Amino acid sequence: MYFLAIETSCDETAAAVFTEEPKILSNVVASQTDLHARFGGVVPEVAARAHLQRLLPVIDEALRQGDLQLNQIGCVAVHNTPGLVGALLVGVSAAKMLALALQIPLVSANHIESHIYACRLAAGREIFPCVGLVVSGGHTCLFHCKSALEFDLLGATLDDAAGEAFDKAASILGLGFPGGPAVEREAAGGNPKAHHFPRSFLKEDRLDFSFSGLKTALLYTVCGQDLSRPASVLSLPERADLAASFQQAVVDVLVGKSRQALRQTGLKRFAVGGGVAANRCLRTALEQMASEEGAELFIPPMKLCTDNAAMAAIAVEKWRRQQWAPPDLDAVPAYRGK
Ligand code: KG4
Ligand code: ZN
Repeated sequence: MYFLAIETSCDETAAAVFTEEPKILSNVVASQTDLHARFGGVVPEVAARAHLQRLLPVIDEALRQGDLQLNQIGCVAVHNTPGLVGALLVGVSAAKMLALALQIPLVSANHIESHIYACRLAAGREIFPCVGLVVSGGHTCLFHCKSALEFDLLGATLDDAAGEAFDKAASILGLGFPGGPAVEREAAGGNPKAHHFPRSFLKEDRLDFSFSGLKTALLYTVCGQDLSRPASVLSLPERADLAASFQQAVVDVLVGKSRQALRQTGLKRFAVGGGVAANRCLRTALEQMASEEGAELFIPPMKLCTDNAAMAAIAVEKWRRQQWAPPDLDAVPAYRGK
């Protein structure tokens, strides 16, 4: 049994083919970074148009790499939530059309929950029940993942997501887009203790996050009271220290809250996904935390951390239970956590 999955929630046009095991046969991602870089962020209208142009060639390539013909596909899976509505609609429409034309079931998947499922894919074995942390450009959430299809939200960001904070920090520091990898590169040569930035809610029991105060603290440290002062006046060592101190503050909060979630739930498995999980400083700190807490850590390889369609293999679990999507499946931009 072969599945074709489609992902178009933000700025990556992606398609993948996998079996019900699930085993990935191909995972093709066409990034739009070049298109959005000159605007300093993702432009929703540009993203939707690019998905329209690229999706069919990306699906063809995923089939080619999987050595499959379209008529061998037995089920279509698509991320229909959350994301940019125009971008999501391109993938959802294509998936509905394919399911109808091929007369095969359609299964919807939640992009946020798929980020955790990427850990199950990478591990090749059961990871549930676990605590799940999703750190992406649009979301920062902690879950009690009871099974692949039962996610209880433990906490989430009240303002900026972790990835968004990295992107804004990069903009404040005059580094390019996308911000996360740029801040990480810059931080490599800096001192993480040079500046002490705020770590919101770290000492409180709640499992929510807030990164907007950290971003503002960075902004005032760079510009002083004169917000027109450009980042270009920073020396290279100054910029590296600021990037390293900022990164350390984000990592401390993410790791601290993850530790609290493990203790509160008593769970001994911890899974992390989303673009920010590609950050090496975060990966190392989570490894240390998990080992101190006696928990098993699941982090996917870089390619499965950032947006892709293979992680939609969570659809296999729904397919097994015949939880098929309706033919009028809609795109839902906001995350509706339980
Ligand atoms: O999961 P993802 O690919 O897309 C969304 O679902 O949002 O995450 C993208 C986010 C961006 O904000 C990007 O700056 C961040 O992940 N990111 C990183 C790194 N690589 C990507 N943040 C920190 N360090 C990185 N190495
Ligand atoms: Zn994502």
